[in-house]
Amino acid sequence: MSKEQNSLMDKIVSLCKQRGFIFQSSEIYGGLKSAYDYGPLGVELKRNIMNEWWRSMVHEREDVTGIDASIVMHPKVWHASGHLAGFSDPLVDCLISKERFRADKAPQPKVGEELPISCVDKGQAKAYQEAIKKRFEIELRRNGKTLEGLRVIDEKTFGFFETDSDVSATTFPYAGYVGPTFGCPFLSEERQFNLMFRTQLGPVDVLNRISKFMENNRDADSKAIREGVDEIVKESAVYLRPETAQAMFVQFLNCQQSMSMKVPFGIAQMGKSFRNEITTEHFIFRSCEFEQMEMEFFVEPGTQHEWLDYWRDKRLEWWKSYANHPEKFIYRKHDADELAHYADACYDIEYEYPWGYDELEGVASRTDYDLKKHAEHSGAKLSYFDQQKEDPKTGKMGWRYTPYVIEPAAGATRGLLVYLLDAYHEETVKDAKGNDSTRVVMKLHPRLAPIKAAILPLVKKEGLPEIAREIVADFFKAGINVKYDENHAIGKRYRRHDEAGTPYCITVDGQTKEDGTVTIRDRDTMAQERIPAKEALRIVQERLVNS
Ligand code: GAP
Repeated sequence: MSKEQNSLMDKIVSLCKQRGFIFQSSEIYGGLKSAYDYGPLGVELKRNIMNEWWRSMVHEREDVTGIDASIVMHPKVWHASGHLAGFSDPLVDCLISKERFRADKAPQPKVGEELPISCVDKGQAKAYQEAIKKRFEIELRRNGKTLEGLRVIDEKTFGFFETDSDVSATTFPYAGYVGPTFGCPFLSEERQFNLMFRTQLGPVDVLNRISKFMENNRDADSKAIREGVDEIVKESAVYLRPETAQAMFVQFLNCQQSMSMKVPFGIAQMGKSFRNEITTEHFIFRSCEFEQMEMEFFVEPGTQHEWLDYWRDKRLEWWKSYANHPEKFIYRKHDADELAHYADACYDIEYEYPWGYDELEGVASRTDYDLKKHAEHSGAKLSYFDQQKEDPKTGKMGWRYTPYVIEPAAGATRGLLVYLLDAYHEETVKDAKGNDSTRVVMKLHPRLAPIKAAILPLVKKEGLPEIAREIVADFFKAGINVKYDENHAIGKRYRRHDEAGTPYCITVDGQTKEDGTVTIRDRDTMAQERIPAKEALRIVQERLVNS
């Protein structure tokens, strides 16, 4: 990221904390890595994004119905979906840089090749040289930001070679690969690392059972112990869902039958998902606990590519419709080698983040893979019978088939980051003394804005607070989130609400008592107009609907 782009992320992170959008989780205890809490404004923004999604995907469509499934599902769901197998990759830690990576994707220098450790700068090279000396008692040669002196001896060994020597001074076990970022061969053992969070269901204390098993099998070898412990854990193991999608496949029949849905139709769900991500990055972009908004749209076989294009365009337009910079949203078709094993085509909807274009939502054509897998593993008949259609195989009326699926799968928390980045705006304005000052405005779409209007008495006396509170009460009755705010000078209050993204400020002043009017200030243009106080609710409601 360039300095400027880096600073945009820094500004967003700092504004999020100051204004109450997002806090580091458990901050007073030093924080929990990559876990975040959505503060007073963040929770509103997140809910508004998710409610708008629900409105457009469920309430405004006759062909989509919603569910809210439990986060913990039967473990067989994850066997059928392939998550238990596919999510388990051997991972390795670099003992020097602490980088964690997949062993099967790492570079593999061959026998006889040098193993230079490439650091980002000379300072890091010095620090790694010292760390290696302390831990392995060898002093690698520093050449700028590269550490030299290591070479692969054979498939299982690498060695340290003094300058101009062909005989290794010391040897070490070689894993057959090196760390991808630095090229370091000092590595931990490979470990299975499951991307799903596992927990235990039921009252039996698994640790007790494991310790008894260990006592009774003191002489067993490590393989037998591993298998025995696995068996005990497996009996009550359940997983936090890594995606909301699977519940929609598992509840396909219940939803279709209870709501008499006819193909093509969709089932939508939004909520928390959990992934023990190897790399968590860019603030809330990739975290271990996040929220998704997913829909599985069941279609007739053969029609999937038309529907894929339909949902790709629909979803892209949806994201753009709340943005100040719609040109930063694009879609990208997956190359054949990028496709997940269950997909016959896929698009990513991408946003231009400060670090470049990256994923915001995936729109995948998942074929009939999921329904077929769940039918196979559960024994349930997850198919659809269309009386009006001719069976292409028999030529007779009535066709039973397994529907194909188009899946628009969006990140709600990732979408929140996108709209924060999109909304951040700085401009130079004159302050009360006529000096230049920087105004920070979060130009959030009014329907996404956490607070729809701030109701501000100009002063805390002369009956103005009472009038302001009456206006607040009108808004509350209509279910619109407004905030009464009387602290600090009016200019400071406007700036505070600009940073909170509040689209309208309604000010009660001396004139209100004379003619019953208030001012309404627009966040983006700063233009103010006088309106009757009694009309404030209707005017804001109209602006929200038309925004
Ligand atoms: N059911 C398909 C599925 O889950 P995915 O591409 O893995 O597909 C869909 O996830 C969306 O969920 C992503 O486009 C992204 O917006 C969001 N997402 C995935 N992993 C995430 C994470 N670790 N942190 C935040 N958002 C994430």
